[in-house]
Amino acid sequence: MSADTGASPAEAMAAAFERRAADRELVIGVIGLGYVGLPLAEGFVGRGFRVLAYDPDAAKIDSIRAGRTYIRHISDERVSAMVGGGLLDATTDADRLAEADALLMCVPTPLNVHREPDLSYVEACARTIAERLRPGQLVVLESTTYPGTSEELIRPILEGSGLKAGIDFAIAYSPEREDPGNIQFGATSIPKVVGADTEAERRMACAVYAPLTTVVPVSDLKTAEAVKLTENIFRLVNIALVNELKVVFESMGIDIWEVVDAAKTKPFGYMPFYPGPGLGGHCIAIDPFYLTWKARAHGEQTRFIELAGDVVTAMPKRVVEHVAEALSTARAKAVNGARILVVGLAYKKNVDDMRESPSLHVIRMLRERGASVDYYDPHIPVAADTPEHPEAAGMVSIAWSPEALAAYDCAVICTDHDAVDYAALAAALPLVVDTRNATARLDGAFAEKIWKA
Ligand SMILES: NC(=O)c1ccc[n+]([C@@H]2O[C@H](COP(=O)([O-])OP(=O)(O)OC[C@H]3O[C@@H](n4cnc5c(N)ncnc54)[C@H](O)[C@@H]3O)[C@@H](O)[C@H]2O)c1
Repeated sequence: MSADTGASPAEAMAAAFERRAADRELVIGVIGLGYVGLPLAEGFVGRGFRVLAYDPDAAKIDSIRAGRTYIRHISDERVSAMVGGGLLDATTDADRLAEADALLMCVPTPLNVHREPDLSYVEACARTIAERLRPGQLVVLESTTYPGTSEELIRPILEGSGLKAGIDFAIAYSPEREDPGNIQFGATSIPKVVGADTEAERRMACAVYAPLTTVVPVSDLKTAEAVKLTENIFRLVNIALVNELKVVFESMGIDIWEVVDAAKTKPFGYMPFYPGPGLGGHCIAIDPFYLTWKARAHGEQTRFIELAGDVVTAMPKRVVEHVAEALSTARAKAVNGARILVVGLAYKKNVDDMRESPSLHVIRMLRERGASVDYYDPHIPVAADTPEHPEAAGMVSIAWSPEALAAYDCAVICTDHDAVDYAALAAALPLVVDTRNATARLDGAFAEKIWKA
């Protein structure tokens, strides 16, 4: 107990944190400046906090310092505004983490080759922090992960420093809910769920996020971890369901997009999800399987999640079969020897992120069947090297022109980017297979050329 106030050391630590957060005295350390970390840093700068942005990737840090973006939907102007105000300090020097009061970890949580959780980034990051941990600091994991990660993995690493969680320093978990490219919701408008195992730690984490946005405290670390997985599993299951309905309705001559558009007019009890070429992205394609893995350790199964995964991972193959049928029926051609243009490499519209993109599966399968395949994506000029699809690495987006488009037998729309001129595409090519309903608003004159898949 403190002699003056009667508060325990943990309560005193929390009270000091709350006061310093309210006075904007806290220094916020953002660790990992990717799709999540960069907008989060921007959010805190916008609220008047000093932000220490740490990433071992020197190219990213140089870019931030130069006011240049490396994420398409975050403009150069936004990055220069962050740096120009003097509140953001970007560094590759891990020793400077001691300067920050709150350390927010925004590092990758992928799956390994066996589709099991790969926590190597989280572990490495926690070790980096542990080596420099000082009393009074708050460490928050924002990366998506299975319930138990903060308690079973992070806490022991941090306590390896000799300091005790909940007494000398604090641990919390606050899932990142950022939706890259979504202009309606961002770091300052999406409520933050915050979980910690003691009242003092929860108070400290709430104090950090409260100036940013609405805070939703939950009772412990693992509950907060479970909230994020629940949100993403909900999406996975519903995406799988609407893809299954697409297949069934198609066999009955019913258009799924028309069905969903009409169904969503119900003002309650229904939420629209849309079919596509498969499952992609760094979240929905991965996170649910973190729970599958952890459930096994508890002797439980996640049959719903696995079934949903099976349904959506079968979609790219189905798209390729539609392409084969369209080429054969409309052009009397085989996939073998055909020139095919995949439109959209990103896993979803208007972003430059091709992680886990179903387009990559479609490209690989078309090539396996003997097609010559190129892609066009206005947001991805060169395909990145991904562990799952090394064969696509270095592919270059074609330059858009009516002449270039006319060289293909068929286009397959895998991503419905707004920046693509679908009328010009349909005008230039003899055949378009549309997995996203991107051509819905086109003139009926193109109807003969367009196949939905
Ligand atoms: N991208 C999204 O839309 C999104 C949304 C919600 C949650 N998430 C989750 O947030 C986390 C981060 O995702 P992201 O998309 O920002 O990833 P990202 O790959 O874009 O960025 C991660 C950053 O972490 C850095 N990094 C790697 N190892 C590090 C280490 N040891 N120490 C410090 N920095 C390190 C990388 O250099 C990179 O800049 C993941 O768990 C993801 O599931 C992502």
